[in-house]
Amino acid sequence: MGLDDIDSQEPMLLLLALLLASNPVTPANNTTNEEVVILDNTVVHPHPRGGPPMRPPTEQQNYGPVFQGQSGREVQPYFQYSQCTGKKKALAIGINYVGQSNELKGCINDAHNITNFLVSNYGYNKADTVMLTDDATNPRQQPTRENILAAMQWLVRGAAPNDSLFFHYSGHGGQTKDLDGDEADGFDEVIYPVDYQEAGHIVDDDMHDIMVKSLPAGCRLTAIFDSCHSGSALDLPYVYSTQGKLKEPNLAAEAGQGLLSAATSYARGDIGGVVSSAMSIFKMATIGKEAERISKATKTSPADCISWSGCKDSQTSADAQENGQATGAMSYAFIAALTENKEQSFQQLLVSIREILRGKYSQKPQLSCSHPMVRLTTTF
Ligand SMILES: *[C@@H]1O[C@H](CO)[C@@H](O)[C@H](O)[C@H]1NC(C)=O
Ligand SMILES: *[C@@H]1O[C@H](CO)[C@@H](O)[C@H](O)[C@H]1NC(C)=O
Ligand SMILES: *[C@@H]1O[C@H](CO)[C@@H](O)[C@H](O)[C@H]1NC(C)=O
Ligand SMILES: *[C@@H]1O[C@H](CO)[C@@H](O)[C@H](O)[C@H]1NC(C)=O
Repeated sequence: MGLDDIDSQEPMLLLLALLLASNPVTPANNTTNEEVVILDNTVVHPHPRGGPPMRPPTEQQNYGPVFQGQSGREVQPYFQYSQCTGKKKALAIGINYVGQSNELKGCINDAHNITNFLVSNYGYNKADTVMLTDDATNPRQQPTRENILAAMQWLVRGAAPNDSLFFHYSGHGGQTKDLDGDEADGFDEVIYPVDYQEAGHIVDDDMHDIMVKSLPAGCRLTAIFDSCHSGSALDLPYVYSTQGKLKEPNLAAEAGQGLLSAATSYARGDIGGVVSSAMSIFKMATIGKEAERISKATKTSPADCISWSGCKDSQTSADAQENGQATGAMSYAFIAALTENKEQSFQQLLVSIREILRGKYSQKPQLSCSHPMVRLTTTF
C-alpha cells in the first residue's frame, strides 16, 4: 500500500477506525475505539513570532488543528518548553573514517570542540558527556552502529521535564529510498557509522524513535547534524529558514500518514510496531488519549526538540575533500556564532551561522523543531 492510494483525510480516518478495531492488543480500557474527528484545521501559533528573544514560557503550549474524540472531548497537539534547569547530558559523535577511501578530516575535532564548548559555557559536567570517535582506544567509544544506537539510548534514559540533552554528529550523511512514505522527497536521511560497510547505516526514522518519541513533555533535545543530506535527519516537522517558517506541516493529514504506517506494519505481520504504538496510547495522562495518538502520528512531540543541520536534504558535496570541509563548517560556525553573542534567539543564531558560512560554503544550514517556536533565547 502506498500513500498515492489515499487522497483525502476521510479514508485515513476510516483506516484509523479499522486499525483500532482490529488491534490485536486487548486494551485494559475500551476507550481507544474512539473515532477521531477533525473539528478545526486552522493552524494556531501559541505566540506571535518576532520581537526580542524571550525565556521559554512555562505553561503548556497548545497549537495546530483541534480534534474531537467520540466522547466529545476536544484535543489539540501540545508541547512544553524546557527551562533547561534540570539534568544536562551530551553525546558527541565524530567519525573521520580513518583509513577508509572516504576519509574526512575535521569530524573528530568537532566532537571534542562541541563537548568542550558545552562544558565550558553551558554547565554540562564532563562526567555526563559521552564521545564516540574513531581514534578512541576503548572499543566501547568507537562510533560503530551498535555503539551509536546504545549511546543514543543512554542519552535519553531517565529524561525528565526541564532536562537538556545535546546530540552532535559529525561524519558522512546520505539518503536512502524511503520505505514508509513519510518523507516529502521520497528519501530517508541516514548517517554512516564507522562500520557501515558491514553493519549498515542508521535511518532518520530510527533516530526519531529513539531520541524524540521517547522524551517526556518539557524535555529539551538539541541536535546538530554536521553532515550532508541531513536537513531532516531527526524528521522534525517545523522547518525554519532565516526568513521565518519554511514548511507548515499538515498535522491532520500527517496524523493519517502515521497511522497508515502503523497499519502497514500490522499488515506485514510486524506486530511489534503495532504493539508499541498501541502501548504508547496508554501512556497519555494530561489531556487525553487522542492527543497522544496525534502527536505520535505526526512526528510532533510534547517534548522540546530542536535540530540543526549542516545543509538541506537536497544538497550534496562533490567529493570527500569538499565534504570534509563542510562537515567541520557547521560545528565551527555554531560555536563561533554563540561565542560572539550568547544572547541571541534560535532564529538569529541561524542567521549568524549562515552569515559565517556564506561565501565559503554553498551549504545552507537548517533549523527544524518538533513544534512551532517563538523567538526563544538560545539555552541548552
Ligand atoms: C466499556 O464500554 C462499555 C460501553 O460504553 C462500558 O459500559 C464499560 O464500562 C466499559 N468498560 C471498561 C473497562 O471501561
Ligand atoms: C520546570 O522549571 C520551571 C521553572 O523553574 C518550574 O516552574 C516547573 O515546575 C518545572 N517543571 C517540572 C516538571 O519540574
Ligand atoms: C483505565 O482507566 C482507568 C480509569 O480511567 C485508569 O485509572 C487506568 O489507568 C486506565 N488503564 C489504562 C491501561 O489506560
Ligand atoms: C576546534 O578544534 C580545532 C583543533 O583542536 C581548533 O583548531 C579550532 O580552533 C577549534 N574550533 C573552535 C571553534 O573551537
